[in-house]
Amino acid sequence: MKFVLHILFVIVTASFAQSPDGKIVFEKYCWGCHHQTAMAFGPPFSQIADTRSPEEIEAYIISPESMYKSFGYKRTVMTQFHLGDEERKSIVQYILLFKGKQ
Ligand code: HEC
Repeated sequence: MKFVLHILFVIVTASFAQSPDGKIVFEKYCWGCHHQTAMAFGPPFSQIADTRSPEEIEAYIISPESMYKSFGYKRTVMTQFHLGDEERKSIVQYILLFKGKQ
């Protein structure tokens, strides 16, 4: 019983630790241009999650400038961010939450 409770505790804290962070990063840096499931200035997170791998998403955030051609864009207007590793991982996880939500 104690073991089961421990596992539950780990799962609950892990899921709470991950997603709110990603949401905060989203609201702070991305929301002006991206929405979760609706087209804004940039494509919706649901579309990104459906078409790109986590590695591709991460690479785009690190450097839109070196990725836009391989993503099929003629140019990029996305801001280049200098996010910390944790912030970047959590925003990638947050984007992936919208897979299949279009
Ligand atoms: C100034 C507006 C702007 C901001 C702020 C912005 N983006 Fe973008 N983003 C865009 C636009 C426009 C595109 C389409 C291609 C381009 O211009 O680079 C894009 C493309 C992307 C793509 C690739 C889309 C695809 O085709 O799969 C990803 C991933 C992405 N953005 C993630 C983010 C994340 C994460 C943040 C916040 C940390 C963010 N963007 C903030 C405007 C923005």
